[in-house]
Amino acid sequence: MSIKIALLGCGTVGTQVARLLSEKNALLSARAGADLELIGIAVSNLAAERDPAIDRALITTDAAGLIEQADVVIELIGGIEPPRTLIRHALESGASVVTGNKALLAEHGPELYDLAKEKKVDLYYEAAVAGAVPVVYAVRESLAGDSVKAIKGILNGTTNYILDEMTTKGLTFDEVLATAQELGYAEADPTADVDGFDAAAKIAILASLAFHKRVSLADVDVEGIRSITDADIEAATKNGYVIKLVATATQAGGKIETRVAPSLVPVSHPLASIGGSFNAVVIEAESADRLMFYGRGAGGAPTASAVLSDVVAAAAKKVLGGRAPQEIVLGESEFMDAGESVSRYFVRLQVADRVGVLAEVTDAFAEAGVSISAVNQEVDGQPGLAALAITTHAASAADMAATIEAVGKISDVHEVVRVFRVEDE
Ligand code: HSE
Repeated sequence: MSIKIALLGCGTVGTQVARLLSEKNALLSARAGADLELIGIAVSNLAAERDPAIDRALITTDAAGLIEQADVVIELIGGIEPPRTLIRHALESGASVVTGNKALLAEHGPELYDLAKEKKVDLYYEAAVAGAVPVVYAVRESLAGDSVKAIKGILNGTTNYILDEMTTKGLTFDEVLATAQELGYAEADPTADVDGFDAAAKIAILASLAFHKRVSLADVDVEGIRSITDADIEAATKNGYVIKLVATATQAGGKIETRVAPSLVPVSHPLASIGGSFNAVVIEAESADRLMFYGRGAGGAPTASAVLSDVVAAAAKKVLGGRAPQEIVLGESEFMDAGESVSRYFVRLQVADRVGVLAEVTDAFAEAGVSISAVNQEVDGQPGLAALAITTHAASAADMAATIEAVGKISDVHEVVRVFRVEDE
């Protein structure tokens, strides 16, 4: 038996998928229980230079025609259109689909899951979250006997690389971004990575799987890393923290909270040691307790590894019958109000170095009901000024906002420099 595979897109990941499908064909076919046959690669530019691993005879611009002959369609174009239309066409034609398209799933996943269900075909997306790290499978299948309470992850390699270089080499955000672009880590338009949307799409996908509720990109509170300064990094380091872009999904009392924000991670936390462009995901489950997954979240061969695991699974289902695990939605999604969100905070202030300032500031925290766990004061670079770094116990975002408003009105407070959330150990 032969399973016909169509590949849409021949960029960094698509090229490696085609190479590995050819080089490892015997092994992958044995696992699938059928000959895996790559019948074509749809591209938009026929004339573009290709890796020598690509058989040019397979290249076509007729994506729709290719889809109609395939049993399994791999979508690695990225973006919303044309992938949305092409995936719909594949599902309607009776092909199972494998995609790494996190943006599409986080915005239009439900219509595609519904269509796959209606057409009795499967939609796989291991490569959409954390590249090679098998976290989709883990949440959907390995933890099917448990209840996930929280997921925290470093889900974007570009931003982790930038923050790591800023921390370890003392470089500025702009300097590291330029190098990341030269090295090909960051896109020419780095918005999706740097402003947090790539990580937000991934945490939305994981939250949907973990909590059996529909969570889309728009439900994620997103803040990126553009405004992080070397002074932020220095203050974090001095106080025993590392700044990481942390993606969080929690469910408590039936309410979901999903967020991406630069956060202070204690150096002893498992996410603190994740360096370079690596990804890591920490899952807190009711019975399993804490699990951690780590690996390459991007790159051609690592992401192709995840794509091909889905291809083997999709092909095996075509051979043996049966269906892949379906989307499970247990009721309407209820989200936590932004003000109810609870965490510890780290606040940096620039104040006049005068008698009584500290008391005024700490009084403002007390009046808003926010408990302080540590205060550090240093002489600021400028004469007559002091830099205050205040760490709090857990407080609601609403109480914290009231505190910051009150602190900002104190005449001896020159500037509320920065407010970070602080992760628990
Ligand atoms: N650009 C992403 C990253 C990989 O830097 O992690 C694809 O989502």
